[in-house]
Order: sequence, then structure tokens, then C-alpha cells
Amino acid sequence: MSITASRPGDDSKVTVTSIQEKKQQGRPITCLTAYDYATSRLVDQAGIDMILVGDSLAMVVLGYENTLPITVEEMLHHTRAVRRGVKRALVIADMPFASYQVDDKQAVKNATRFLKDGGAEAVKIEGGQKRVSLIHRLLDAEVPIMGHIGLTPQSVHMMGGYRVQGKTLNAVERLVKDAIALDRAGVFSIVLEGIPREVARIITEEVECPTIGIGAGPDCDGQVLVIHDILNLTDRQPAKFVRQYADATALIGQAISEFKADVEAKTFPSDGESYHLPKETQAALETIRARKRAMVR
Ligand code: KIV
Repeated sequence: MSITASRPGDDSKVTVTSIQEKKQQGRPITCLTAYDYATSRLVDQAGIDMILVGDSLAMVVLGYENTLPITVEEMLHHTRAVRRGVKRALVIADMPFASYQVDDKQAVKNATRFLKDGGAEAVKIEGGQKRVSLIHRLLDAEVPIMGHIGLTPQSVHMMGGYRVQGKTLNAVERLVKDAIALDRAGVFSIVLEGIPREVARIITEEVECPTIGIGAGPDCDGQVLVIHDILNLTDRQPAKFVRQYADATALIGQAISEFKADVEAKTFPSDGESYHLPKETQAALETIRARKRAMVR
């Protein structure tokens, strides 16, 4: 086993410790979701620090109404695909709904599968103070953890919909306590989702571990977005915090329409897009066919 020292700005493997160092050095942390081999390769090659196999895959890839139905097996299937596409970025798997909320022992079993069978290097779980004892058990099992508080999509029914959290004094206090509890329990980072930027800023100053914002303003230590959102590949109205960097819906739609038109006009495939027989085989075939035609006459 070789021991490597990481240097800022180089292309060495991202680890949970190098992510924490970035906060200490005041360097922004980048994170995107990915759910398959092809996309994760691109995200990794672009130098994004962390790739989250988010349970948002339930909605943006599998077409479910919310994230609740996705299973551990489905998440593992996609985590393995992402793992195969990634060399440098830290791969984090989202623990799906009911895989860690019901029973701590089961939660540890599920989490270790993401590392052992899925190739993830950390897992993400939603929830604050109430997850502290589970976090201790996961850390005992050598599973690095990313926390997630604020608008936690797995609590959609408890929240009464996808609503910005932490708007009242009580709610702010609860969120700050949640963040501090996660930090002290030993998570390596915390996703702050759908909270006022002022609250995200307080939390970011209060906790030692990096905060990764999504709809939490610019003062977090890093930012995460869903890749389908930045590429305009969803059928939903984008949230206020989404910035679209490309229009993949238009690009893909255009390509498909052109393919359809070419096939219908018989301009695809061309001769140059076809395989050809070797010259000798072609000549022999012509001779045989000519003989057969002569015999029929
Ligand atoms: O599932 C997901 O994609 C997430 C991120 C949006 C943080 O949890």
C-alpha cells in the first residue's frame, strides 16, 4: 500500500479528508449528481470534486413522483455504474428512504453494502439530531457520512410538500442545532438544502465540516446540483436555485428529429455508413449469382 500526500490543485484522488481540507483552505467544493457510467465519466473528467448518486434518480431517471419508492438494490445498481466511470472524484451514495430510518442494525448493513458492493466511498443520510446515534454506529463500521438537513426530500409528507425550511426563529435554531449535532457526531460534510442563505451562512461558520449548499445561497463551502437540472433534462419546472448551463432537451430532441427525417427520406444510412464485402468475395458472389440466373433461364 502506498501513502500519498495530496497537493492542492493537482489531479490526485479526492478523499473525505481532502474535502475537509478544502474548507480549511477556503477553496470552494464542487459536487454534481450522476447516475450512470457515461455521465459520471464526464463529470469526473471535468474535475468535479464529489459525485453524488442521489436518490433524485428516482424522479429524474426512473420517473417516480418523489424519491420514496427507490430501493437499496436500485441505488446499488446505479452506484456501481457510476463507480466504473469515476477515477478521481469522491463517490457518495444516497441511502434511500426506509433503508436507515427503521432500524440501526439494518442501516449499518445497508450502508456497508454501498461501500462493499457499490464501490461508494461515503453515504448520505437525511436528518439532524435524531441521526446522531446512527452516525456513531456507521462510523464504528468505517462508513464516512455526509449529512443532509433543511429541505429533506425523503420527509416530503412530513413537511407538507417541498418547502423552504428554516424561516422562523425556532426553525433556524433547530437547523443550527441539527448541523452542530451532525458535525460533532463526525459527518465529513453536510448538505444544506432549501434554506435561507442567512441561515446557511450561520451554519457554515458554526460547523467545522464543509457545508454543501443546494438552494442555500452562496456562503456555503461548496455547491451541489442535480445534473439533469443543469442540463435541462427534466419535465419539471426548475427550482429558483437551479442554473441551466445547457439545453439537452433541445439538443437531444433536434438529433432525434433529424434521425427520423433521414430514415424516412432514405438518406440514412449512406454507403459510407455501411459495411462492404471484400472485393474477392464480392466477385465470387457475383459469379455464383450470374450462374444461378443462367440456369434458371
Ligand atoms: O438526491 C439528490 O440528488 C440529493 C441532492 C440534491 C443533494 O440529495
